[in-house]
Amino acid sequence: MQDIDRSEDNNKNTGKPRSVYIATFGCQMNVRDSEVIAGILMQAGFELTQSENDADVVIFNTCAVREHAEEKVWSEIGRVCKGRRNKGRAARGLAGNARELRKGVPDPIGRKPVIGLVGCMGRNYGAGAFERSPLVDFVAGPQDIAKIPEILRRIFHSRPPALHGKGEDEAILFERKIFEVDGNVRPEKIYHTGFRSGKTQAYVVISEGCSNHCSYCIVPYVRGPLRHRRGEDILREVRDAVSRGLSEIFLLGQNVNSYRSGDKGDFVDLLEDAQAIEGVKEITFISSHPRDSGTRLFKAIGGLERVKKWLHLPFQSGSDRVLKAMNRGYNSKYYLELAREYRRIVPGGELSTDVIVGFPGETEEDFRATCRMLEDVRFNTAYIFKYSPRPHSMAASLEDDVPRLEKERRHRLALDLQKRISLSGKQRGKAK
Ligand code: SAH
Ligand code: SF4
Ligand code: F3S
Repeated sequence: MQDIDRSEDNNKNTGKPRSVYIATFGCQMNVRDSEVIAGILMQAGFELTQSENDADVVIFNTCAVREHAEEKVWSEIGRVCKGRRNKGRAARGLAGNARELRKGVPDPIGRKPVIGLVGCMGRNYGAGAFERSPLVDFVAGPQDIAKIPEILRRIFHSRPPALHGKGEDEAILFERKIFEVDGNVRPEKIYHTGFRSGKTQAYVVISEGCSNHCSYCIVPYVRGPLRHRRGEDILREVRDAVSRGLSEIFLLGQNVNSYRSGDKGDFVDLLEDAQAIEGVKEITFISSHPRDSGTRLFKAIGGLERVKKWLHLPFQSGSDRVLKAMNRGYNSKYYLELAREYRRIVPGGELSTDVIVGFPGETEEDFRATCRMLEDVRFNTAYIFKYSPRPHSMAASLEDDVPRLEKERRHRLALDLQKRISLSGKQRGKAK
């Protein structure tokens, strides 16, 4: 490995390592990615901070699955930078320079932190992020997170000849706006930095990306095609987590039960190998696709002692017409039978799901079919989302024709229905 002079990375004003604050949005995969980012940054000589207010760098590890998730991130970026400007103003007793902040110019005293837009939105926006918000200094997609230490070095070390010795704010201005969003394979070593934020639970990625191309979904674009990690690498990570006292293992993938590896077999084989590791107390996993689920998986959940009796199995819609347009690869009858089979093989097992209301062309009749599915299966938990058109998805070309108010009505009705089902389930549980 290249010998790096870490003192060069330190903050020139404090002489201390640069500090990084990571704000995480989105799914469990992103929670794990933020740990990975933290681990590689610490290895590279950066320091993590729990306070966005004094960080040299603020990284937003983001989600692009719905527009609302993105809006939240843009407004958080503005809030963090504004907070810093106000802090600078207070320190100087001056009126801050709002125009400069809007242009993304670092405040010399308030010090706008270096802002990184990382993860799924990074890949979705690419260089367009700099136009959307001048406050963003660098962009990295989910497959490019290993490059973040190097990107930060480029930002902090760049010194145009004319500015040498003139202080770091000018230097920061010189090489800003870096984006890396075209990576495809993550180096395996980034999963082994040893950094974990959980106290008892360890997230372990078993596969990256997704090749299902559900028509509404941006994930296959932002995360790339499905790649499985080697079984031995996954098990090594599990052993390492257990040796650090994290005995609850949470396996992650967009579609875990399609897992196949050259060295270890399929997902059920992986579950068996993982639960055989001494010290593992519980194994949980998310998400499963109905098309790839069946008796073999359910028997593993029911029969393997340390596998949690819980299955997250999104059905998305109860209408066959909508399921077809969503490209889900099953119909409502198939799903219903699958859910019954699960309940039969895993008695008392939990079942949760995801639902989308207001997909293009969804009629009242289609929506009722979704409600019927909720009533028939009686999930323990259902996450219900309003359809949000996403760039790079197949459904983006369809007219988003269910009016906003109607989507909200269906959303509310489905939520209320599920709430009643969840509550009655609990009451039954108590009465026993
Ligand atoms: N790979 C996982 C989860 C993907 S995203 C799986 O297939 O289960 C989590 C959920 O977000 C999806 O299950 C879906 O219900 C929802 N979702 C995805 N794209 C969406 C969109 N464009 N609009 C609204 N909800 C969406
Ligand atoms: Fe998206 Fe479908 Fe893949 Fe899940 S399985 S990530 S919903 S394309
Ligand atoms: Fe969101 Fe990316 Fe996860 S789009 S749901 S953070 S894979």
